[in-house]
Amino acid sequence: MCGIVGYIGKSQAAPIILDGLAKLEYRGYDSAGMAIFDGEKINIEKSVGRLKVLENLTRGGATMPGFSGIGHTRWATHGVPSDVNSHPHFNKNQTIAVVHNGIIENYIPLKKKMIANGYEFVSETDTEVLAHLLDYYYKGNPLEAITKVLHRVEGSYALGILFSDHPKEIYAVRKDSPLIVGQNEDGCFIASDVPAILKYTRTVTYVDNQEVVKLSADELHFYTVDEEEIQKESVTIDWDANAAEKGGYEHFMLKEIYEQPKTVTDTISPRIKDGDIVIDELNMTDEELKAVRRIHIVACGSAYHTGVTAKYILEGLCRVPVEVDVASEFRYRNPILEEGSMVIVISQSGETADTLAALREAKSRGFKVLGIVNVVGSSIAREADSVLYTWAGPEIAVATTKAYSAQLSALYLLAMKIGKVKGTISNELFASLLEDLKKLPYQIELLLGQKEKIQKFANRYVGAKDIFFIGRGIDYAISLEGSLKLKEISYVHSEAYAAGELKHGTISLIEDGTLVVAVSTQPELYQKTISNIVEVKARGAFVMAIATEDNVAMEKAADYTIYVPETNPYFANSLAIIPLQLFGYYVAVGKGCDVDKPRNLAKSVTVE
Ligand code: M6R
Repeated sequence: MCGIVGYIGKSQAAPIILDGLAKLEYRGYDSAGMAIFDGEKINIEKSVGRLKVLENLTRGGATMPGFSGIGHTRWATHGVPSDVNSHPHFNKNQTIAVVHNGIIENYIPLKKKMIANGYEFVSETDTEVLAHLLDYYYKGNPLEAITKVLHRVEGSYALGILFSDHPKEIYAVRKDSPLIVGQNEDGCFIASDVPAILKYTRTVTYVDNQEVVKLSADELHFYTVDEEEIQKESVTIDWDANAAEKGGYEHFMLKEIYEQPKTVTDTISPRIKDGDIVIDELNMTDEELKAVRRIHIVACGSAYHTGVTAKYILEGLCRVPVEVDVASEFRYRNPILEEGSMVIVISQSGETADTLAALREAKSRGFKVLGIVNVVGSSIAREADSVLYTWAGPEIAVATTKAYSAQLSALYLLAMKIGKVKGTISNELFASLLEDLKKLPYQIELLLGQKEKIQKFANRYVGAKDIFFIGRGIDYAISLEGSLKLKEISYVHSEAYAAGELKHGTISLIEDGTLVVAVSTQPELYQKTISNIVEVKARGAFVMAIATEDNVAMEKAADYTIYVPETNPYFANSLAIIPLQLFGYYVAVGKGCDVDKPRNLAKSVTVE
């Protein structure tokens, strides 16, 4: 959840680290800090607040000269956001500095032991234990001290470490928290994610679990936890560097909303060949697909919402029972996975701790796992048996939009593929689905053209206390995501309900003027949803409908209607979600919220 950047080389380290941290602020932004070696000693500056505070404090890094250093942007877990809890953390003589992303699960017993050994703790963090443990084991050989510490700690970590008596080196370590290293002719870098160093190098190496990296100005050396040197392959990142910039948009979120036509195209086009769907990455024969008797989908947040959508589609098109689980539940509920089950995990970041744990749980029971993942080379991508990449490019805004759309597209392809192989989709239906699929990017463009209309409507609700979203079937899945988009960035309380469920309790919350957003894109349910609209209107609700163009009855039933183009009802989520993303975005903008960095959240949730 936190962001780490480190640099050692021929240039001043602090400005490079600040620049990299700015690209990682989406990972955490309640405090920031840097440790820079100035030629004699390590200096630390850190502060609660956004990275801007650290930039001002160090005058853009000018007050911290030096050619090596590590930096951190924090999403607090242990200890409130405060100057003292900010990273880096020092050992007692200020000769070792550590930045950490993750959680040290056994830090309490370790802390007690270190206190018994005479160490004093100044912060409430789990990370400080690492600084003192390193101090305890350090006898002049950093690699030896680091590996000894790794044998003692449990949990997840990506670390950047400086030793003042090894000024020509910095160290990096990882277990279950993302970390990459990179190199150019000027120096070497560590980072939690590629965008932090993309400006400087495209040659990166993914650090694997329990590997230690020694970086000098011109070399990278990799070691196991047993101090054995290993060779690693680097990869070349081929992203467009502009993809991680705002490109004239006010927020990353708006830019990413606007990128959705391209995202959908990029995800589906390479997999449509000669009127068929070809997903080579599945690594499953048609016989194996035919044998699938049950599908388990596991994910968190918005990715879970795409899973809920997929349940309706896979069950409808493939006639296979589908279970969808929130990953944090799946991993601890001792799930029943029977022979013939296919397990799918969905994740934008590929680093979500619970989803990764769910993947491991399924694998440990002998099941193969398909990952639907956006970030290439991420932990889930590497640990899954096969990976269906969503080609959304880097997604920076904490609230997902384009990766969500790409996940839906990938799931459509999968459902159509399985349905065709199983023979549950006729050739005519398959051909018509394919045509509708290809039209989605253009139809999304059309919806984006309604931006001003949605903005005007959203402006009326910047003061709203509660907003409800209702829908049936796939429209319920759309409501879940519409509601999350709104609340996570605008802090307006909102809930999504299966439309028929509202009257079992929640309808008591409807007051005069309460906004209810009713999603209605499933023709066989139009009338049922209208009945639910009538019920809430009778209690004073104002109803905004998101309805398909042919849903003419909605004009009268709702107070305000946004129409979405017609498509196959299985694909309706891809269209109906666009006005809901824009609605959430504009309510948040109207309230003056920090849209890209909502409070308390982080882009990739690498702790459970
Ligand atoms: O990276 P992942 O797709 O695994 O992330 C899952 C959720 O944390 C994520 O979708 C989260 O709910 C977003 N804030 C939604 O906008």
